[in-house]
Amino acid sequence: MSSGCPRAALHQSEPHPDPYAVYARMRADHGPVVPVELEPGVHGWLVTDYATLISWSRDTTTFTHDARLWRDFTEGRVNPDSPLLPMMAPRTNALFVDGAEHQRYRRALTDGLGAVEPDHLRRITTRYADRLIDEFCERGRADALNEYARMLPLLVMNDLFGFNEDQGLRFVNAMRNLWLGVDAEKSNAEAERALSEVVTARHRDPGDDLTTRLIQHRAALSDEEVIMQLLLITAAANEPTANLIDAALRAVLDGSAGFGTASPSDASLNELVDRVLWHDPPITNYPVIYPRVDVPLDGGRVIEAGSPILLGFAAANHFFVRENAEQMEETVNRAHVAWGAGPHRCPAIDEATNIAIIAVRVLLNRLPGLRMAVPRDQLRWHLTGLSWIPVQLPVEFDPQVPPPPDPVEGTPWSPSDSPQETSEPRQPTSVGSGLSSLSNFLVRLLRGS
Ligand code: HEM
Ligand code: HEM
Repeated sequence: MSSGCPRAALHQSEPHPDPYAVYARMRADHGPVVPVELEPGVHGWLVTDYATLISWSRDTTTFTHDARLWRDFTEGRVNPDSPLLPMMAPRTNALFVDGAEHQRYRRALTDGLGAVEPDHLRRITTRYADRLIDEFCERGRADALNEYARMLPLLVMNDLFGFNEDQGLRFVNAMRNLWLGVDAEKSNAEAERALSEVVTARHRDPGDDLTTRLIQHRAALSDEEVIMQLLLITAAANEPTANLIDAALRAVLDGSAGFGTASPSDASLNELVDRVLWHDPPITNYPVIYPRVDVPLDGGRVIEAGSPILLGFAAANHFFVRENAEQMEETVNRAHVAWGAGPHRCPAIDEATNIAIIAVRVLLNRLPGLRMAVPRDQLRWHLTGLSWIPVQLPVEFDPQVPPPPDPVEGTPWSPSDSPQETSEPRQPTSVGSGLSSLSNFLVRLLRGS
C-alpha cells in the first residue's frame, strides 16, 4: 500500500521501521482519511481515525461491504491475477454482502459458532497446544510463531469443522502453502476440495460439528454457500488469531506485559490481550467498505462511489490512544477497534480470546525458563498492509521430556476423558492417532523435511 508515500517502509522485512511513524506522516500530508495505492494503478483510501472508522462501519446507508460495488473491479481495471482479489473480489460469504443477505449468513455463522461449548473449545485448544509442544519440548528451542501460534488456530478450526485426518492434512497443507504464497491457485483448489468433501460426508453422516450445523441451519444454505462460509471462517480466524498469540507472547517475553513467565493469572492474561488489541492489533488494516455515493472530505477532496476504503484498525487505535492518554491510563478498556465495528464486527471474539489466552498459558506452563532466543531488536519482520508479524519467533527454554506415549493410541478422544484445562501436571492423554500424526505432519512440513 502506498500514498505517494513510503510504500517500501510498509513492506520491509527488517528492521521494524515503526509503521506508526509512516501513518503519522500520511496523516500530516492528507488528514485522517488517506489516499492509498493498493497495488500499482489500483487506488483506494485508508481510514486512520477512530471515530470515522466506527461511524462509517455502522453507516450502512452510505457504505457497504458489498464488493460488487468496487468500481475498478467491475469495470475491468483490476488484473485477474491480482493478489488483492482473494480478499477483495465479490464472494457469497458474510463479509462481502450486506442487509438481508448478510443477516442470513451471519445468523448461520453465529448460531453455528454459538453452539460450540466454551468448555469444549478450551479442552481441544489445550489438547492441541500440548500436542504441538510435545513435538519440540525436548529440543530446548523452537519457533513459537510457525511451530505453535500459526498451527494452533488451524488445528482447532479443523476440529470444529469435523475434518477426518486425511482431509485435515490436505487442508492444513493447502492453507500453509497459501500463507507462503506457494502455488496459490492449486492450494486454493485443494482447500476447497477438502471442504467440499467434508460437506458431502456430513450430509451422509451428520456430526456434532460446525459443518453439520451450517448444513442444517434454517437459513438453508446451499453446499456452495456452506463451503464459502467455512472458507471465510478459516481465512478470518487463522492468521489474526496466530498474530494475537504471537503479539501476546512477545509482550510476555520482552517484559512489556508487566508480569513474568511463571503462571500468570487469567486476569493478567485477559488484560494483556486487551492491551495487545489496542497497541499491536492482529489485523493492521482490513475489511474494505465501499461508499454507495460520492463522499466529500475536508479540504475539498471526494471519495468517489465504489472506491475501496480500508479500515485502519492499528492506526485508529494508536492515534485515539495518543489523543486520549489520560483516560487510557486509568483503566484497561475494551473500546479498541481491533474486532471491527458495526454489523460485520467479528462474531468470534470470545473464541479468539480464549484460544489466544490458552495458547500463552499452556506454553508458559509447559516450558520453564521460556525466553526469547534473539534480542527483540534483532527480530526480522514481515510487514504488509494487512499485518505486522515477525518472520519467526525464536524461543529457548529448559528442555523437557515429553509425556509418555498415549497408552490407548487410536482411541478417539472424547471430552469425558480429557484432562482439566490447566496443562500441569500433565496426565498421559488419549488423543486419537489422527491428531498425533497431524501435528507430526505439521512439524515436518515446517521443518521442510
Ligand atoms: C484475534 C483474532 C481475530 C481478530 C482480531 C478478528 C477480527 C475481525 C475483524 C476486524 C472482522 C471484520 C469486522 C468488520 O468488517 O467490521 C472480523 C470478521 C469476522 N471474523 Fe474475526 N477476528 C479474529 C478471530 C476470528 C475467529 C477465531 C473466527 C472464527 C472462529 C472469526 C470469524 C470471523 C468472521 C466469520 C467474520 C466475518 C463476519 C461478518 O462479515 O459478518 N474471527 N474479525
Ligand atoms: C492478519 C491479517 C490477514 C492476513 C495476513 C491474511 C492473508 C490471507 C492470505 C495469504 C490469503 C490467501 C490468498 C490467496 O488465495 O492467494 C487470504 C485469503 C482470504 N482472506 Fe485473509 N488475511 C488476513 C485477515 C483476514 C480477515 C480478518 C478476513 C475476514 C474477516 C479475511 C478474509 C479472507 C478471505 C475471504 C480470503 C479468501 C478465502 C477464499 O475464499 O479462498 N482475511 N488471506
